[in-house]
Amino acid sequence: GSIWEEYSNKVVERMNNPKFLGEFSEEDAKKRDAKLVVADFGSEACGDAVRLYWLVDPKTDKIIDARFKSFGCGTAIASSDVMTELTIGKTVDEAMKVTNLDVEKALRDEPNKPAFPPQKMHCSVMAYDVIMEAAAKYKGKDAEELKDSEIVC
Ligand code: FES
Ligand code: FES
Repeated sequence: GSIWEEYSNKVVERMNNPKFLGEFSEEDAKKRDAKLVVADFGSEACGDAVRLYWLVDPKTDKIIDARFKSFGCGTAIASSDVMTELTIGKTVDEAMKVTNLDVEKALRDEPNKPAFPPQKMHCSVMAYDVIMEAAAKYKGKDAEELKDSEIVC
């Protein structure tokens, strides 16, 4: 079969037309009474990088809006887009429970067919790692301290 068949339609749609690509400035944060969190993560596997922007309500710790930027491949863009969407409306603690497996599941067309080939899993792990970087920044901690062991590459 062709390599195209190994990717879900959702991956193709999201990589070509991401909904949450963008950025926020301090000015945007001020207008919405939010704290701006900007976090970076780079993948050692491929040298690509992702940047996540959160606007967090400091009273409730809720992520009121989010955007991302990416130097990554199509799978990384699709994964980051879904990850960004999944964090909106959650508290920072709830967002930390979003894993790359949730992201991959959200990108499936059919429940039992993987959204992308296994060698692209690290691209979705980057989406998880940048959440942990953002949470660590918000909490003034180190990302490694916050991570648990649920992550599968
Ligand atoms: Fe680098 Fe996918 S993010 S290959
Ligand atoms: Fe570690 Fe996938 S090999 S991120």
